[in-house]
Amino acid sequence: MSSLTGKRALVTGASSGIGAAIARELAARGASLVLTARRKAELDTIATSCGGAQVIPADLGTRDGAAIVWNAAIAGGPIDILVNNAGFGAFRPFDDTDWSRDAEMIQLNMTALVELCKRFVMSHKGKPERRYLVNIASIGAYQSVPNMALYSASKAFVRNFTEGLHDELAGSALSATCICPGGTKTAFHDAAGAGNYGWVANVSMMTAEQVAQISVRAMVGGRRTVIPGFINKIACWSVRLVPRWFASLMSRRVLGKPRAGALPPRTGAAA
Ligand SMILES: NC(=O)c1ccc[n+]([C@@H]2O[C@H](COP(=O)([O-])OP(=O)(O)OC[C@H]3O[C@@H](n4cnc5c(N)ncnc54)[C@H](OP(=O)(O)O)[C@@H]3O)[C@@H](O)[C@H]2O)c1
Repeated sequence: MSSLTGKRALVTGASSGIGAAIARELAARGASLVLTARRKAELDTIATSCGGAQVIPADLGTRDGAAIVWNAAIAGGPIDILVNNAGFGAFRPFDDTDWSRDAEMIQLNMTALVELCKRFVMSHKGKPERRYLVNIASIGAYQSVPNMALYSASKAFVRNFTEGLHDELAGSALSATCICPGGTKTAFHDAAGAGNYGWVANVSMMTAEQVAQISVRAMVGGRRTVIPGFINKIACWSVRLVPRWFASLMSRRVLGKPRAGALPPRTGAAA
């Protein structure tokens, strides 16, 4: 296991799920941590389980969120590793969600991610020390997904953006890695009003710890794009062989129907 001792990592969405697991994985490799999300109590708990961390409660779904997080993070020293993990989805037809929720998703899943990347990349321009950028996309990036149209489009954006960045940065000390997890057992599904999935989605479900280990290994290896899990890899590869409408239809079959009733309210206001 390669050491990240001496490196300082900023992880977004670190209060639960994949982000919390990535934080623990980075801590196990010796990195010091800056953790951000909206819920301070949960961040404090994760920080303790990592042996201590700087904690920044902030809402990246707002216009100023990324600047607030970045400025608070660099006030404690330079950032060597940036993991853009915070994100959420809504498993509902587009005409069933209100605009404020859609706008927050666009801001969090794409705009804040790009702004943090911009600030991180600019801060290392021309510097020789090894640095790592990781953006968490999804296997939803590989085809359109009915009932998750905006979410899957946001993840397609993250994938294209990160892969372009990876190629731009080739040969430099900074690497950019895109992780495309499939279904992972986290709070994501309840928050998205999802979970009545077909058997393929259930059988391929991974733990946050598995995804985190694969993500950090990919980051250290300077990989371009990694899809955790064999079934997920096959699924993403096979969309190349079929028309786009058919891939979209298959994703609808695999995900099943949205849960009945209203979407759970967005929770977790920054303290
Ligand atoms: N679980 C899956 O099946 C799956 C599959 C593919 C990709 N992903 C991606 O993996 C990433 C992590 O999701 P997860 O599965 O670990 O879900 P999760 O447990 O719900 O974690 C989401 C994280 O994002 C943070 N967050 C949400 N809204 C935020 C906001 N407005 N500002 C700042 N932070 C915010 C949450 O913290 P607070 O609530 O404390 O703010 C939480 O720490 C997401 O980008 C998701 O799209 C997940």
